[in-house]
Amino acid sequence: MTTTLDRLKKEVTVTFEQMTAIAADFKSAMDAGLTGQPSPLKMLPSYIGRPSGRETGQYLALDFGGTNVRVQLIELHGDGRWTVRRQTAAPLKDPAGKYDYTAAGATAAELFDFLAARIASIVDKDINVRLGHTFSFPCRQLDVGHAELISWTKEIRTAGVEGREVSALLAGSLARQGLSRIKPCAVINDTVGTLLAAAYTDPAADIAAICGTGHNTCYYDAGKAMIINMESGNFDALPFTAYDDAVDAASEKPAGQRLEKMVAGRYLGEIARLAAADLGRTTPLTLTAETIAAWLADPAAPTDLRTIAGLAVTRAARLVAATFLGVLAHSDPGLTKNHTIAIDGSLYEKMPGYAAALKAALAEKLGGAAETVTLRLIKDGSGVGAAIAAAIAHPSGGR
Ligand code: BGC
Repeated sequence: MTTTLDRLKKEVTVTFEQMTAIAADFKSAMDAGLTGQPSPLKMLPSYIGRPSGRETGQYLALDFGGTNVRVQLIELHGDGRWTVRRQTAAPLKDPAGKYDYTAAGATAAELFDFLAARIASIVDKDINVRLGHTFSFPCRQLDVGHAELISWTKEIRTAGVEGREVSALLAGSLARQGLSRIKPCAVINDTVGTLLAAAYTDPAADIAAICGTGHNTCYYDAGKAMIINMESGNFDALPFTAYDDAVDAASEKPAGQRLEKMVAGRYLGEIARLAAADLGRTTPLTLTAETIAAWLADPAAPTDLRTIAGLAVTRAARLVAATFLGVLAHSDPGLTKNHTIAIDGSLYEKMPGYAAALKAALAEKLGGAAETVTLRLIKDGSGVGAAIAAAIAHPSGGR
């Protein structure tokens, strides 16, 4: 049976009332997660607080997000500024099909040897340097420097990494490459890196999110004096449509990461494809977030496809806004302070209409008080954030 555009609009629109309810449920889930009650929010401690902005020294930053690996040698100047001295990046999946370190056929050793080889490509073997590692997956943090992968997300399947401590895996691969003088000393989530990068210069920064291929938010918990990685992509008190259920059922981990599967770039194309098919539209077998972005940017693209894309993008922004409202209600219910929400990721940076819809949703709910909340794009926070984390863990710089 095909549906009509009007019915689709109704199903895929997040109303003001729904946003309000989601924000309240999100806040309750935060409270539950923090007090050890069952909760979709893991509320993972990072064992890292806010930077002073005065951190200095030269550090290596390794950024592993699931699509690419990037290595940077970063000099922190201690006055909110930094310089990237050297850098290299490579895809984890070769576009020409020669390798794919994210597939089930790849092993932990192969993946981490690849990361170590990328590090080796930009530093001398005798360099003494501390390394901060941004590893953008849900991890049980043992301390600042050690974290065990709880489970892969974003459809990554590399064998033998779940349940393992990632700094040990990296240290093993560095040793195999003769790079034992490089010492991993901090491992953080990319949301945490984004918050550290923003807070290095902006004292009001206390929430950070990634709105890209994946989705997640962290916040600075003043009571715990620590940044908490909520793993909000797993939030699940949400108005699911049949499209969302289909995306979930076909995914690597059904029933998990339900918010992420409604809002992240990895899944938006498929949601739009299913909705278009429901309208009786023939579309390519796979649709990506880039295709949706191209439709939205092109006034000559078919109107119904542009409408569907707009609906999916606006819904994503409003759901994320509702979770931000939940965090604000938890941390500062009266909005007595200024808050900067630092955001990185391709959707926030590039998807037509996304950033505007996010801002509008906050204003719709907060009215005049929305002035206390600033949304700020932080590009590449996971790189400099890893260096800042390493500097907090090892203030003496390289040695
Ligand atoms: C992961 C998070 C990460 C987010 C953005 C999610 O799939 O679970 O840890 O922060 O993607 O990269």
